[in-house]
Amino acid sequence: MASESGKLWGGRFVGAVDPIMEKFNSSIAYDRHLWEVDVQGSKAYSRGLEKAGLLTKAEMDQILHGLDKVAEEWAQGTFKLNPNDEDIHTANERRLKELIGETAGKLHTGRSRNDQVVTDLRLWMRQTCSKLCALLWELIRTMVDRAEAERDVLFPGYTHLQRAQPIRWSHWILSHAVALTRDSERLLQVKKRVNVLPLGSGAIAGNPLGLDRELLRAELNFGAITLNSMDATSERDFVAEFLFWASLCTTHLSRMAEDLILYGTKEFGFVQLSDAYSTGSSLMPQKKNPDSLELIRSKAGRVFGRCAGLLMTLKGLPSTYNKDLQEDKEAVFEVSDTMSAVLQVATGVISTLQIHRENMAQALSPDMLATDLAYYLVRKGMPFRQAHEASGKAVFMAETKGVALNQLSLQELQTISPLFSGDVSHVWDYGHSVEQYTALGGTARASVDWQIGQVRALLQAQQA
Ligand code: ARG
Repeated sequence: MASESGKLWGGRFVGAVDPIMEKFNSSIAYDRHLWEVDVQGSKAYSRGLEKAGLLTKAEMDQILHGLDKVAEEWAQGTFKLNPNDEDIHTANERRLKELIGETAGKLHTGRSRNDQVVTDLRLWMRQTCSKLCALLWELIRTMVDRAEAERDVLFPGYTHLQRAQPIRWSHWILSHAVALTRDSERLLQVKKRVNVLPLGSGAIAGNPLGLDRELLRAELNFGAITLNSMDATSERDFVAEFLFWASLCTTHLSRMAEDLILYGTKEFGFVQLSDAYSTGSSLMPQKKNPDSLELIRSKAGRVFGRCAGLLMTLKGLPSTYNKDLQEDKEAVFEVSDTMSAVLQVATGVISTLQIHRENMAQALSPDMLATDLAYYLVRKGMPFRQAHEASGKAVFMAETKGVALNQLSLQELQTISPLFSGDVSHVWDYGHSVEQYTALGGTARASVDWQIGQVRALLQAQQA
């Protein structure tokens, strides 16, 4: 029975809790998000208690029925919190007691909020991992579709933000999509480690009442059960992994966003964001700002902050449950919401983006074919180091004469190497240039098609 203090743990307390402490200690403002999984966990637990002979069938039915009522109230928005509801677990149990009377007091037999809260969190995160993975797949699919449709568009590839080599636009898209396939794979792996049942671990030492944890596992559809009750109640590595997954995924997306922000400037003019993902300036009427991409870029900082914050909280904790662990949930909820928004906005941006093919083509300049000029000599038998030097001399000669690299005459080129002949004119073709990169992973059409096939196959395998 709850003590006079109205607290479920109030038996040994005589004095009242300072109101400021009460507020400080309370987590209901955010852990109410766990209402559904908390009911789910409690229903499974009452079945476990019945199997262990700690509840009669009638008592179990009464509890199950009461818990359904509790869930109904939450779902309908009629659940009334009272000031003593410290967290979702105490709130639901308090309400259960109001609904079914003293039998409610049997539900927590052998259970602690330590194993309860981590069970709830794992249940909640398992669902969230699935939802986020579906959003991530959607984004990757959108990117691959776009890469397939626009694989004949060429534009400059950059290193150090300097024009480097001509590439296919699809090659750029796929470079980001491929990174995201590792994020989806990683999320599935995180989900596997989230999907482990801690319930039945009690506060620290385990369960002394003959509880069948295998039954609980099956009831809640977990993939495995935790091996050690102390580890089960204290470990939050799965939370850290989830936050790290989100940090890396948003870091990948921020890199893509940054590229697109640059490509969308007048100076580059390669892409144009749709109005649906841009905003205007309150002062400068001409402005169309890439706020969607800027916010995607910014979220990487926020998300990683949560990851670093949790690790700081965990560092130096002694074994098993400490109240510090209550802080895990806000990070998980916030990061989950952020990821859901970021992934959907990124999908919207990519699917509605316009590209300016002419500007992309115009940005290709003959100097970007200097490597090709070196390969030309390599194909004529010159060692690459010498070919690199010869091509460098050609670049220097063109610069000195104030002409484009492809404007040097054959005679001029022949002063650099006698290996140059009439067929050097083939080098000055961007389509020819990209088509050289046929080795798997390169920017030739066949290789881009291969990449598209590979990413589609990966998605299919992940979704199986
Ligand atoms: N609200 C707590 C949390 O989120 C529940 C666990 C409380 N356990 C305890 N021993 N006080 O972590």
